[in-house]
Amino acid sequence: MTGDRAGHEIVYSEETISTRVRELGREVSDAYSEEDRLVVIGVLKGSFLFLADLVRAIAVPHEIDFLIASSYGDAMVSSGQVEFRCDPRTDVKGRAVLLVEDVIDSGMTMSKLVPRIESLGASRVDVISLLHKRVSAESLEPRWVGFDAPKSFLVGYGLDHAEAFRHLPYIASI
Ligand code: IMP
Ligand code: MG
Repeated sequence: MTGDRAGHEIVYSEETISTRVRELGREVSDAYSEEDRLVVIGVLKGSFLFLADLVRAIAVPHEIDFLIASSYGDAMVSSGQVEFRCDPRTDVKGRAVLLVEDVIDSGMTMSKLVPRIESLGASRVDVISLLHKRVSAESLEPRWVGFDAPKSFLVGYGLDHAEAFRHLPYIASI
């Protein structure tokens, strides 16, 4: 493993991420058709770079929206409470929704979010997460996972610690 300028250990390089995201884009493209009227919804803020790269690898026509969910505050352990701000404005009734998450840790965010989107009338809700820490055995299994990640605290490529490091093109452990 190599370190970055701040001495953090690089866990997934820019190239590793980009290869995997293109693969995921192909798999997602195979899973939907135009009739699904797919809506890709990014969970802000952590998913913004993953979503930006992923949608450019999805060949099926789709719309893009975002919602805001937060469980950590500035801490490195989940607060145990998920705060939702700003539901998607797109009408998802009768449409397939793909929820895009940066990382699944306890699984709590997704376990609250999926029923919420289902209750808005989506015909189907799938989850894609770039990283999965596999912390809890009960957590909902996303349809697609980029990488089974170490349980350490990760930053970069959208992931933050107290809002720092989101811009890094790679993922590092701090
Ligand atoms: P969960 O609800 O415990 O699954 O936590 C999911 C959310 O916690 C993610 O959407 C992230 O915003 C945040 N999170 C979990 N692990 C990390 C990490 O290693 N780095 C940065 N954010 C994290
Ligand atoms: Mg997040």
